Order: sequence, then structure tokens, then C-alpha cells
Amino acid sequence: MKRPQAQVAVLQAADAQEDRRIDDVAAEADLKPEAATRAAFELEADGLLAVSEETLEHYELTEEGDQYVRESLPEQDLYEAAIDAGAADGPVQMGQVIGASGLEGGAVDIALSNYARKAYGEIDSGEITANQDADPGSDPEMLALEAVADGRVEDADADALEQLERRGLLDVREETVRSVQLTDDGVTALMEGVEAAETVDQLTPEMLTSGEWEDVAFTEYNVEADAEDVSHGKEHILRQTANRVKDTLVGMGFSEMEGPHADAQFWINDCLFMPQDHPARTHWDQFALEEPEEIGHLPPDLVERVRSAHRDGVGPDGEGYHSPWTEDIARGMDLRGHTTSLSMRYLSGHQVGELDPPERYFSVEKVYRNDTLDPTHLLEFFQIEGWVMAEDLSVRDLMGTFTEFYEQFGITDLEFKPHYNPYTEPSFELFGTHPETGEVVEVGNSGIFRDEVLTPLGVDCDVMAWGLSLERLLMLMYGFEDIRDVHGTLCDLELLRETEVMR
Ligand code: PHE
Repeated sequence: MKRPQAQVAVLQAADAQEDRRIDDVAAEADLKPEAATRAAFELEADGLLAVSEETLEHYELTEEGDQYVRESLPEQDLYEAAIDAGAADGPVQMGQVIGASGLEGGAVDIALSNYARKAYGEIDSGEITANQDADPGSDPEMLALEAVADGRVEDADADALEQLERRGLLDVREETVRSVQLTDDGVTALMEGVEAAETVDQLTPEMLTSGEWEDVAFTEYNVEADAEDVSHGKEHILRQTANRVKDTLVGMGFSEMEGPHADAQFWINDCLFMPQDHPARTHWDQFALEEPEEIGHLPPDLVERVRSAHRDGVGPDGEGYHSPWTEDIARGMDLRGHTTSLSMRYLSGHQVGELDPPERYFSVEKVYRNDTLDPTHLLEFFQIEGWVMAEDLSVRDLMGTFTEFYEQFGITDLEFKPHYNPYTEPSFELFGTHPETGEVVEVGNSGIFRDEVLTPLGVDCDVMAWGLSLERLLMLMYGFEDIRDVHGTLCDLELLRETEVMR
């Protein structure tokens, strides 16, 4: 039987009685490990060889772990200092104990957070106690550190190892080791004699004309061989979800709105009956533009009607704010803090012309807020804006629309809480339950526009509207807890690569 050279060499190096590691086989066959592995898989496919796999774990102390094993764990130092200070008999001032322990900087925090966890004692309102029965001399984590350092990982406690890894004191590296063993057919083949044939991985016109192709062995394809993981570019999960939201809303009969990210305060705030001295309008909440300082054009008749609504309200019993309203402020440029600015532009008839109810519009666009960064807040996020214009709308219609919308994303436990917006009455905040933490998370804000908003815009039927967070929707769908995993420089690439957005 003729076989490719590499296969013959691997067959001859393999054994029928025992598993041999592929690296040893490769060395004996004078092949690179990858070439030997490929040949082994090819032989396995023909039943001549059995390939087995095991995962080995290698443990190595980090620099910090190495330091502790030579000295001691910070919490052990803290315990010793606490005992010396008499903390076994009652609470002692923390500062005094820390000073005596010689711990500094980050080591103090590390000591404190592990001290209580290990029941070495208690830490409360600046005082520390030491538990007489604790035995830092046989601290399982220290014993595990020593075992790793001495190359006796098998003696170490599994929980302690896990804890060390979590504390960054230990690195665990996994290695896949393959071994081969000859099968009965492999033994037979060897006995009958296998010869090395030159293998060819490409058929050429010359081979065809000369007839050489009949004598050569072709390199086989192995579709089961491990292939390298290629992490190619792909659409960001937030963008994928935005597109799915758009499809969903289009499916519900909505059309998409477009408009500027930087806009006049007029469209962002004034049309929404937000008084000019409203706290959310200050630079604390919104980013103002230096350049251009103000918008070029505002529709003069609309400006007049909005001014009048702010001053005197609308209708015969109207109540305005009776505070000054200036067009200068209205012309000021900000990054939009919500996309309700787009709703105002469209409802005013200045974007797509007069509207004829029923009408439905939406947008899924970025908004910008001067928030404090934390796991649920960024300086910019995507808002799912939407509104329905029709005769006689009620809260039932609003809730029904949300229920229908969120159901399409698998969210069926929405909760509604009455809320206040200067521009809607009634108003509701929406909440969903986080699938991992069980926490109730705010996902949006909504309501039915007041007459003070609609009358100046020239709308004489009902409009219900909302602004929902795309990022929060994503959190509820996929269960991640920190928005910064998805956005920005701290993002979790693994999560972004692996999350599949269903369409
Ligand atoms: N603009 C509101 C927000 O950003 C959302 C909203 C839009 C509420 C329309 C009611 C009506 O929170």
C-alpha cells in the first residue's frame, strides 16, 4: 500500500500497545508536530490509527503570588498585627493595627477584603477584632500557593486554587495533548508493508497529459482537522439589535424619522414645554455647542406659538410658566439629550409636511447626556423614540404597544410606574427584570403629549410617545451587567464576538 510520506512515518512511530504522545511521535518521525497531527488525523479517518485527546492544566504563580509565597499573605500580616494589638479581646482602632502591620497602599485593601472573608475577625466602623480561633498558619490559600510553588499542585485544595486564580495570584493555562495508538488495521497494514508515496496537493495539466496522475498519492483533505479561529470583523451587536428594532417597528406600521444630532434648544426643549430655567436644560445635563453658537433658521410663526404657550399656556383656562422666555436661548445649539427633538420636527409639519392621522413614526438614534459613567450610564446611548398620532388614544394603547413591542424580544414582564414629564400627561416609566441579577431596571419613559405641546405644533388629535433605551433592551435580552462591556474602550471583545443577535 502506498501512502504519503508523513503518514508512513507516523504509522511506523506509533505503537499498538500504548498511547504515544503526538509530540514524541513527531520527533521520532522527524516531522513538525502540525504535520504529524495532520497525518494522524488522516490515518484515523482510514481506521489505521486512534487519536485521543486530553486537556492538561498548567499552574503558575503570578508575580504577586510569588511574592506572597516567599513572604506572607497581607491578611496574615493584618491578623498578626491585630493579635499583637489585643484585638482578640475586643475591637481596636483600625489605623493603629494597619500602621503596626507594615501594610501599605493596595496591600491594605487586599488584606481587609480577605480578612473578613476568612473569618480572621471582624471589621466595623473603623475598628477591627481578631478571632482567637483563626489559624492563619494553616491558611488553605497559603498552603495551595506553597504546593504550586513546590510543583505539588495535586496536594492543593481545589477551592483554594480557584480563589487564588480569582485573586490574580495564579495563572492556569490549558493545553490539549493528543496521543495516538495503532489500531488492528494499522498493525495489519504495517505487516503487509506500507511504502511512502510522493504526495501531491495540486493536480497540474502536465500531470494529466503525462499520465503521472495515475501513480501519485494525493494529499487528503481532512475537514475535521482543527482550523485556526479567525476573528473577523462583524456588525456590532448594538447595531444588529438596532436593525432588529427598526424591522420590528416597521413591521408594526411605523416610518423612520431622521434629523440632526446637534440641534437648537427650541426643538430639543422649548417645543416640549420645558421651561427655560428647567434644571435638565442646564449644562449639567446637556452638552452645549460652541460652534455654531446658534441655529440659522427657526419657523417664526411656530416660535411665536411656543412663546405664547410658555408665557400663558393654551386654551381659555391655559396656565403658562409666567417666567421670561427668550428666543436667544431657544436658538442655542446642544447635542440632543433625547430624540424627542425629531418627534417635534416631524409633528410640526416642517419635516415631512402636514400629517394626516393615524400616523406612526420612530427612530433608533444616538442621544448625548452629561451623566456620570457607571455600569448603567454612558455619555451617549441609543434611544428608541416613537409616537402614534390618532384620535382618542388612552393609556391602554400605550401599554398595549409596549407589550407588543417588547414581546418580540422575549420580554414579557414589563412594569409601569407613573412618572412626571413637563411634556406628557399622564407619563409612565417602564421597567423590566434583569435576567441575571433579578434587579428591576428602568428601560424607558413615555406618555401622552400635553396640549401645551400639541397646540403650538398645530396638532389637534392625540399623540402618545416614548423614548426607550436600546442598551437596556440589550441588557435584558442577553443578561450582561455592565454597559461598558458593550460600548467604548473597556468593551468585552469576547462577548461582542460571541453574542448572536437573533433576527
Ligand atoms: N424624552 C423622554 C426621555 O428621554 C422620553 C419620552 C419621549 C417621554 C416622548 C415621553 C414622550 O426620557
